[in-house]
Amino acid sequence: MKTGQTSPVSNTEEAFQHCKATCMGIDKCPYSGNIPYQLTLEGLKKIGIEGKYAGMIFTYKCPLFEEYALLQKRKQRVSRVLGPLATHTFENFDSSRNTKAFQMAKKYIESKAWKQGGWLILYGSYGTGKTHLLSAIIHEAIMLGASAKFANLANITTLDFESAKSAIADLTSYDLVGIDDFGVEIGQNWLSPHIFRLFDDLNESSKGIVMTTNMPLGGLQELLGNRIADRIAERAIAIELTGESMRKNLRSKFTSWFKE
Ligand SMILES: Nc1ncnc2c1ncn2[C@@H]1O[C@H](COP(=O)(O)OP(=O)(O)OP(=O)(O)O)[C@@H](O)[C@H]1O
Ligand SMILES: [Mg+2]
Repeated sequence: MKTGQTSPVSNTEEAFQHCKATCMGIDKCPYSGNIPYQLTLEGLKKIGIEGKYAGMIFTYKCPLFEEYALLQKRKQRVSRVLGPLATHTFENFDSSRNTKAFQMAKKYIESKAWKQGGWLILYGSYGTGKTHLLSAIIHEAIMLGASAKFANLANITTLDFESAKSAIADLTSYDLVGIDDFGVEIGQNWLSPHIFRLFDDLNESSKGIVMTTNMPLGGLQELLGNRIADRIAERAIAIELTGESMRKNLRSKFTSWFKE
């Protein structure tokens, strides 16, 4: 609907249909989703308002704009949570490599497995796409309305003790926690009791975890101890990612400036 054109209608549905028919595109909505309309005398009577309100402008919240605004808000959340990793999606993952891991990651999303307290462990060697798939999972989960957080434990270990402790404690408030690069930091023994506690808490509240690690599965379970290994055996699907590091393929992109 063009700005300023509000011919009287008899109800809000009519106002909506009229606006929709002349919509310039939701992202260009001049009303920010609040459709202005006037009511005919008949329309005013219907909602029990007297004729003296004829000509008055009412507003109706456009359901299409509400949906659009919600998706925009979620997109912003994705950027906030993932930062530059937000560009790692299912769409730009080459699924001819590590097909099983790709399919399992998609299945985790399709079945909203975090809601059932499902855990997914992506393990394997460097540059095989573990962080890429974890980012894609967190991305999609947020777009579906989950509260999800991406945590790099190696980064957390660079914080001072109190900040690291509270960053870990904060993770328990999410429906789905993505833990990237598990293993490297666990040698920092001041942090490990808090990480173990995190697993316990997420297990008790039946929250989702998706974790990446370079450690072999056996080593991971040994490191975490019997208590957590038991929970992993109960809750987790573990998939190994194999193959050459994809970073080798990316090298030409990053060094093209060097070529004459
Ligand atoms: N199957 C794939 N399709 C497209 N890009 C990929 C694929 N696998 C890896 N990549 C890309 O290769 C780079 C390295 O991948 P990623 O960071 O996910 O590896 P990783 O397994 O987490 O490695 P590390 O163990 O060192 O943390 C990223 O830029 C990622 O987008
Ligand atoms: Mg990684």
